[in-house]
Amino acid sequence: MERFYITTPIYYVNDRPHIGHAYATILADVLARYHRLLGIPVHFLTGTDEHGQKVWEAAQLAGIPPQAQCDRTVVRFQQLWEQLAITHDDFIRTTEPRHTAVVQEILAELHERDEIYSAEYEGWYSVSEERFYTEKELVDGRSPEGKPVQRIRETNYFFRMSRYQQWLIDYIESHPEFIQPEQRRNETLGFLRQPLGDLCISRPRSRMPWGIELPFDRDYVCYVWFDALVNYISAVGYRRDEETFRRWWPADCHLIGKDILTTHTVYWPTMLHAMGLEMPRTIFAHGWWLSGGSKMSKSTGNVTDPIEMADRHGVDALRYYLMADMTLGQDAVFTEEGFALRYNADLANDLGNLASRVLRLVERHRDGRIPHPDETAAGPAEETLRRAVLAAVGEMERRLRAMQIDRGLAAVIGAVRETNRYVDQSAPWTLAKEGATTRLATVLYHACEALRIVSGLLFPVMPGKMAELRASLGLTGEEIAPRLERLRVWGELEPGRPASAPPSLFPRIDRRAHDTAARGAARRPAAKKAKTEGLISFQEFSRLALRTARVLEAEPVAGADRLLKLTVDLGDERRQIVAGIAPAYAPDDLVGRTVVVVANLEPATIRGVRSEGMLLAARQGDRLGIVTVAGDVAPGSAVG
Ligand code: MSP
Repeated sequence: MERFYITTPIYYVNDRPHIGHAYATILADVLARYHRLLGIPVHFLTGTDEHGQKVWEAAQLAGIPPQAQCDRTVVRFQQLWEQLAITHDDFIRTTEPRHTAVVQEILAELHERDEIYSAEYEGWYSVSEERFYTEKELVDGRSPEGKPVQRIRETNYFFRMSRYQQWLIDYIESHPEFIQPEQRRNETLGFLRQPLGDLCISRPRSRMPWGIELPFDRDYVCYVWFDALVNYISAVGYRRDEETFRRWWPADCHLIGKDILTTHTVYWPTMLHAMGLEMPRTIFAHGWWLSGGSKMSKSTGNVTDPIEMADRHGVDALRYYLMADMTLGQDAVFTEEGFALRYNADLANDLGNLASRVLRLVERHRDGRIPHPDETAAGPAEETLRRAVLAAVGEMERRLRAMQIDRGLAAVIGAVRETNRYVDQSAPWTLAKEGATTRLATVLYHACEALRIVSGLLFPVMPGKMAELRASLGLTGEEIAPRLERLRVWGELEPGRPASAPPSLFPRIDRRAHDTAARGAARRPAAKKAKTEGLISFQEFSRLALRTARVLEAEPVAGADRLLKLTVDLGDERRQIVAGIAPAYAPDDLVGRTVVVVANLEPATIRGVRSEGMLLAARQGDRLGIVTVAGDVAPGSAVG
């Protein structure tokens, strides 16, 4: 039987949740809710990652035991998920006995079977990232993320991950849906082109006291990732409840951010394989929310507080913006300006306006009842509307299955616009004035029916506001949460039900007031306009993610004299960029140089070669000069 088990990463309990965390969980929630709408049984898991150095240090600082520190901070996540209308079925904490005991059993079994062995190890250790790096992986004496490292030599336990390298490559190659999107699949395959080492899965207790004790050596605790990844199976009854486990495992979708790709697409599959378990169907890596050109993160300090955002503009509006403004898999830029634009266009102008004018007419001219349509008063306009709205149902479902939520939402908003057009053209207010009651009833019925369907399609994204809207259409009880099969048919809305105009669903955000308040000063609008004509605002500029990149490889593009294909290091990832600079540069001139790229440009295929960004260069007639960076700046640094 079809079922859907979806997981989010488990969040570091010590962090204060920001928009990045909220995004991942809202995305999982939206997918879970859409599957419920399709009538598919869903199991939705989220939780917190509670062991490791940072929790230990925070507890020391607070002068309380680490478990108390976790108990104190976990509520930030639990409360936020409640506030954001997250419908998870389970919340796992890695300090719960149902998890720790299973991790220990797995460790014991793998040790017994010689999948885990002990050896002396020497390497570069990053305290803040809690992991070792090899000499080769270091960049200018620091971790690839730019964190300080120290040389450490110690005996540790290792999981024989290297044995599964070829198996993993074959598995990924024969299961195209396993790692998505394709770019991330290629990244993992690229990583697997280098020899895969064994995985160090222990930390000496003397250095790291806060972790799950190894069952075969009390002087060690388990490495946090080996512990954390197991949550996906411990939560659904692995080794405890055979029936539950068989019902949900393998997971259908592990949602992750692109920064935790290797742990999920290399460590986790080899761990599962060693345990003799099936692979999850899909591991889907989404991009990052950027702010001021770099990843929104606590350490950079460029975070937006989701609670504050939801308080100010509503939970549903926040959920909608996050889903509509990010193309799954790519990065997106979070700005207040972008939020206001999206909100005002789609929600205030299109949807809110449609609902309020249609339902107000129903209140005023039809006694607050869903009108009885008369098919003899319907014509081609109704047929066009019906087709447009039902097409959006099919499109939403297709886009959802292809993990293109933003495109699905665009189709639904397209149907809303179509309905607004229908109302404009049918001019029900004139029909009311002229006393054309049969035609008026028919027009209002069709507009209400369109609202029933679009509110159903938007329900998983905006459950609060869409429940309000559906109640205004006379739907009650179980009808509020929609079922897809009821959205596929036109004419389900029952005439005669009480209907009312909802109180303003999405009040407009006054951007002028907002901008002015933000700057803390009032300016005369006329003067402002004259001064700023043709200029862009700082927010508009900050939508561009300009970043430094180091050129790793450069080669000509066959059959295109002007083009070079570059592989660049963007700090946290590699990208391929096609640039029209061959007339001015030989490939060898470029390797090793630090250039500037637009990192959040939509990928394009140029002469059959994929390009994931744009290199900046100056042009004067035929002369050409690439933009480079003077000074010693790490690849991936923001330019601005
Ligand atoms: N604890 C690990 C995950 C263990 S899963 C077995 C972890 N936690 S985290 O709290 O740092 O990150 C959790 C998720 O939040 C990651 O998928 C990460 O990509 C996501 N995000 C954190 N900042 C983000 C943005 N600015 N934008 C989008 N998502 C990002 O890693």
